[in-house]
Amino acid sequence: MSADFNSIDIFIKSALNSWFLVIQYRIGLNKDNIYTFVGLKILKTFLMLQLKNNFIFAPVKTGYSDNTGIITEKHVNFYLARSKHIGAVTLEPLYLDKSLREIPTQIGIDSDDKIDGLKKLIDKIHQFDTKVIAHLNHPGRMANPKIPGNVFFSSTNIACETGGAEPKQMDNAEIQSVIKLFKNSAKRAEKAGFDIIELQFGHGYLVAQFLSPKVNDREDEYGGSFENRIKFPLQILDAIKSGTNLPVIVRISGDEMLPDGIKLPEMIKFSKILKEAGIDAIHVSAGTVCSTPPWYFQHMFVPKGKTWEFANKIKQEAGIPTIFVGQINTKDDIKNLTDNFNADYIAIGRALIADPDFVGKYLNKVNGNIRPCLACAEGCLGNLKQGKGLGCLVNPLVGKDAEKLTLAKSPKHFAIIGGGLAGMQAALTLNKRGHKVTLFEKNKLGGQFNLAYLPPKKETLKKIIDYFVEELRDKNIEIINKDITEANIEFEKYNGIILATGAKPAIPPIEGLENYYLVEYIDRDDIPKNKNIFIIGGGLIGVEIATVLARDNNIIIVKRTVDFGEDMELISKMLSLNYLNDSNVKFFDKTNITRIDKNKIYAERNGEDIKFEDIDMIFVSTGMESYNPLEREFKKLNAPVFIIGDSKKVGKAEDAIQDAYETVKNL
Ligand SMILES: Cc1cc2nc3c(=O)[nH]c(=O)nc-3n(C[C@H](O)[C@H](O)[C@H](O)COP(=O)(O)O)c2cc1C
Ligand code: SF4
Repeated sequence: MSADFNSIDIFIKSALNSWFLVIQYRIGLNKDNIYTFVGLKILKTFLMLQLKNNFIFAPVKTGYSDNTGIITEKHVNFYLARSKHIGAVTLEPLYLDKSLREIPTQIGIDSDDKIDGLKKLIDKIHQFDTKVIAHLNHPGRMANPKIPGNVFFSSTNIACETGGAEPKQMDNAEIQSVIKLFKNSAKRAEKAGFDIIELQFGHGYLVAQFLSPKVNDREDEYGGSFENRIKFPLQILDAIKSGTNLPVIVRISGDEMLPDGIKLPEMIKFSKILKEAGIDAIHVSAGTVCSTPPWYFQHMFVPKGKTWEFANKIKQEAGIPTIFVGQINTKDDIKNLTDNFNADYIAIGRALIADPDFVGKYLNKVNGNIRPCLACAEGCLGNLKQGKGLGCLVNPLVGKDAEKLTLAKSPKHFAIIGGGLAGMQAALTLNKRGHKVTLFEKNKLGGQFNLAYLPPKKETLKKIIDYFVEELRDKNIEIINKDITEANIEFEKYNGIILATGAKPAIPPIEGLENYYLVEYIDRDDIPKNKNIFIIGGGLIGVEIATVLARDNNIIIVKRTVDFGEDMELISKMLSLNYLNDSNVKFFDKTNITRIDKNKIYAERNGEDIKFEDIDMIFVSTGMESYNPLEREFKKLNAPVFIIGDSKKVGKAEDAIQDAYETVKNL
């Protein structure tokens, strides 16, 4: 539904609202009038969510609570920043019991003392006429085994094959007590003022562990046939509907993307049954947290639009209001879903993390370019997994959402040397504070990050460079294409110098290492073919070089320690290493190169001497070091000098953007 459609939508809704009264009256006259009853059902499902528009913020764990599960200021600021222009906000999954947490810093709805904090947040979101959805989930065997006191239940007693605790196969009493947990939590949600309940029946959590023929190995009434496997979810739904008056959304994985997992045809059948059971909308995602997290989290490595196909099929065949989700992160995606899929509701997660005004900008209620989500999962999922709380590669304000840049009292003129991510972020932050900025870049804006989007399936990473370049142009920031090698007189006029000269490769002192290539090589059109390529260093950059060259060459990659790609985001790492394995790349860990003699490389591994022969090309990717050749020069001038990004400390793209923002925000 587009902005235009929304007004029609509201019109139709109010028209139908009065029709509703007529039908109720007719039912009163003739209770057995099936025709009228069907009319009422259709009307009810169409109306129940009653949102001001069809955009929903998807459930995303934030990690912003403390260990008590209460709402914090950080939550309030995070959700308020994203609430104004959307129809409904789903808060992060609320734990039903303290022993069922996915992360230690999750919000709880396990006891009445949580109601007050939730109510305060909900009241604040309601001021925008935005509804609030309580997402209720039991993780089952996917509860976090690292949290002391957690318990692990499932349809099976087999642990997830990629990790996690060994669960207890639930008996009847435990099934009943979980149903009660859901019901009590839903009642609390209603007391706290939530408008809608969303039940998590997908993503490989407890209910999906019952639904999935791959996981559910029970021989009782809850296992085996489709009818048996859907019994537990239907009992939960029944309990929720008898316990509260709130509309109910069910979230499912339309397909678990596993050969023997949940498949779309069964989910279509299930959706029809859920519709009959009275749910108000179905939310169709994909994947499982255990086996197919790239699908669950819609990582850039999985194709955009597959989840939309699943949702569309369910919408068509089950005839139920359907929520579409998954990598919806451009205006074109929304238009496509509106025009070609007739999407009832559009759920957006990361695009609203990256740019809280994503929907506002789409609806032309907020001006400006959209800060694009790259579907990289680096700063959101990556930070969450490291226990740092949700962040974002492209947006340094995530988690500091209340922070506002104020205009500088006395605007100055800054020179920034280096137009990589740090330099560009610094330029935009200073500009926002009212300062004048001149940005010097000898080469291409974007710096080293221009190499990051070259490996297969990483093209979306380019979007952040395009965004920065567009912003610099829109803000009329002066860009001078020049290699700055000295602090000459022309720099006397600036009130401050920001050095953002980045990093350079660290070359290991290996005897005979003379002819070698660096990561820059992958940025060329004539990538070699049929060569024996030897890569020294197996971190992120070594793995990326290998993924670019693996298709047409024989690759050997060595590192001194273990764990190839140890500095990579986990999903990227897993998928990149799978790709390299499939491409017959040879990995040698714990390998020290001792000497190179033309096309022969001598090394030591586990106390044994080994030799690699007939090597055509050597790449070096043994780390980066700060490149900051101008600091001394510029410190001779009167103006203060600030060093940012990799030239201060080598890190990831997110670190560079964060550091640039933090360093200059108060200048
Ligand atoms: C950091 C992070 C945490 C998430 N946590 C949950 C979760 O706990 N439960 C859930 O059903 N989905 C979760 N999701 C999935 C989102 O709800 C959404 O389905 C997914 O991100 C795809 O939508 P998007 O491309 O708009 O982000 C999470 C996603 C991210 C990135
Ligand atoms: S970290 Fe990456 S995937 Fe996550 S919200 Fe930011 S840009 Fe999107």
